Amino acid sequence: MSAEATAAPPSAPPVYEDAAVRGFAIMTVVWGIVGMSVGVLLAAQLMFPVLNFDTPWLSYGRLRPLHTNAVIFAFGGSALFATSYWVVQRTCRTALFLPKLASFTFWGWQAVIVAAAITLPMGITQSKEYAELEWPIDLLIAVVWVAYAVVFFGTIAIRKVSHIYVANWFYGSFILTVAVLHIVNSAAVPFSLTKSYSAYAGSVDAMVQWWYGHNAVGFFLTAGFLGIMYYFVPKQAGRPIYSYRLSIVHFWALISIYMWAGPHHLHYTALPDWAQSLGMVFSLVLLAPSWGGMINGMMTLSGAWHKLRDDPILKFLIVSLSFYGMSTFEGPMMSIKTVNALSHYTDWTIGHVHSGALGWVAMISIGAIYMLIPRLWNKPQMYSVPAINLHFWLSTIGTVLYIAAMWIAGVMQGLMWRAVEADGTLTYTFIESLKATYPYYGVRLLGGAIFLSGMFVMAWNVWKTIVTPLTDETRITAREALA
Ligand code: HEM
Ligand code: HEM
Repeated sequence: MSAEATAAPPSAPPVYEDAAVRGFAIMTVVWGIVGMSVGVLLAAQLMFPVLNFDTPWLSYGRLRPLHTNAVIFAFGGSALFATSYWVVQRTCRTALFLPKLASFTFWGWQAVIVAAAITLPMGITQSKEYAELEWPIDLLIAVVWVAYAVVFFGTIAIRKVSHIYVANWFYGSFILTVAVLHIVNSAAVPFSLTKSYSAYAGSVDAMVQWWYGHNAVGFFLTAGFLGIMYYFVPKQAGRPIYSYRLSIVHFWALISIYMWAGPHHLHYTALPDWAQSLGMVFSLVLLAPSWGGMINGMMTLSGAWHKLRDDPILKFLIVSLSFYGMSTFEGPMMSIKTVNALSHYTDWTIGHVHSGALGWVAMISIGAIYMLIPRLWNKPQMYSVPAINLHFWLSTIGTVLYIAAMWIAGVMQGLMWRAVEADGTLTYTFIESLKATYPYYGVRLLGGAIFLSGMFVMAWNVWKTIVTPLTDETRITAREALA
C-alpha cells in the first residue's frame, strides 16, 4: 500500500471566532491615530503654549494623561486583544472559548476608552500616572479584564494540542499580572462618583504606584508584545523560532526579574535606600533576558535575511526588535543611581519612553496588524504593499527624529542644571535650559508628525484592503495565501 493511502486524512482546521479580532484590529488603527494626534498636539503645545486656547480641557496637564491612556491602553491594548485572540486560537487549534464574552470584552474595552476620553479632559483623575481613571471606570476595567482572562485561559483549557506555545505564556502572564497590578494599585476609598483617595499613604503609596507603573511597562508594554513577536516573526519569516529552549529561559527570567525593578523610578526619594539599590540591581540584571529575547527574535531570520529586502511587514517586525534592544539597554543604564541623577526629570526619560513606545510597541503592533488584516477579510494581501513600505520609512524616520532630539535635549538639560560656578551658584537659570531645548522640541514635533502621517497611510491601506472586492483571480490567490 502506498504511503498516501495509509496516511490519515488531514483534519479540517477548526472554524475560528474572529469577530472580536476584527473589531480590535480596526480600533488599533483608529486609537493609534487619536492617541498620536494628541501626542503631536502636546509636542506642539510645549513649543507654542497658546495652543491650549485658554481652554481648561485643552490644557497640557489634562491632555497628557489622555495621550498616555490612548496610546498605551486604547492603541496598544487593542493590538494585544486582537493578536492574543488570533494567536491563542491558531496555536491551540480550537475556536475561542465563549465568543460572546469575547465580544463583551470588545465593547467593554471601548466603553472604558470613551469614559477615559471624556473624564480626563474634564480633569477627573486619581493623579496616579498610567492609573488616572476614577474608581467607577476602574471597576469596569476589572470586569472586562476578568472576562478577557476567562476567554483566553478557557481557550487554552479546551485546546486540541497538548503543548502550550510560548507566545501564549507571554500573553497569559500579561493578562494575569495586569489583573493583579490594576486591582492592588487602584485600591481607593470613594468620596463621590468622581473623586476617591488612595488606600495607601506616603512613600508606601509611591512604592505601590511604581511597582504598578514599572510592571505596566514590563507586562503591558513588554510581555504582551513579546507574545506578538513569538508568533508573528516566525510566521512572517516562514521559519521556526531560532531557539525554543531560549524562549522558555527568556520567559521565566523576564517575569521573575521585572517584578523587583520598580524602585528605579524612585531614586533619591523618601523610599528606603536599600529598596532603591535593590531596584537598580534587578534592572541591571534585566538586560540579560531582554537581550536574550531580542536575539531569539532576530536570529529567527538567520538564513532568510534576504526576505527583509522586499517584505515591509518583516521590516516593521525586525526593526521593532532593534528598538526593543535599544530601550532595554538604555533602561538598565538609566537605573544606575549616578546616571539617574542626571537623567531623571529631563527629556532623556521621554526619549527612552518613546524608543520603547514608538520603536518597539507601535512598530511591532503595526507589523502584526498588517499581517492580520488580509487574513481577517479573506484577501490575498494588503491593498498596497508600496504603501506599507512608505509607512515603514515614515515610522522609522519619525521615531529616530523623536528619540535623538530627546536624548540630546535630556543630556543637555541635566548638564545645565548641575553646572555650578566657583562660588557655588548655578551657572544657568531654568529658563535658559528651556530656551536651549526649544530647537529639539521642534525636531520632536516634526518626528511625531511624520510618525502620525504614516498612521494615516495605514488607515487608507486598511480601508482599501477591506472594501476592494475580490476578482476571480484574487479569490484564488487569497485561498492559497490563507491555506
Ligand atoms: C530592561 C528594561 C528596562 C529598564 C531597566 C528600564 C528602566 C527605566 C528607568 C531607569 C526609567 C527612568 C525612571 C526615572 O528616572 O523616573 C524608565 C522610565 C520609563 N520607561 Fe523604561 N526601562 C526598560 C525598558 C522599557 C521599555 C521596553 C519601555 C516601553 C515599551 C519602557 C518604558 C518606560 C516608561 C513609560 C518610563 C517613564 C515612566 C514615568 O516616569 O512616567 N521602558 N525606565
Ligand atoms: C506621534 C507619536 C507621538 C508623539 C508626538 C508623542 C508625544 C508625547 C509628548 C509630547 C509627551 C509628553 C512629554 C513631556 O511631558 O515632556 C508624551 C508622553 C508620553 N508618551 Fe507619547 N507620543 C507619541 C506616541 C506615543 C506612543 C505610541 C506611546 C505608547 C505606546 C507613547 C507613550 C507615552 C508615555 C508613556 C508618555 C509619558 C512619559 C513619561 O511620563 O515619562 N507615546 N508623548
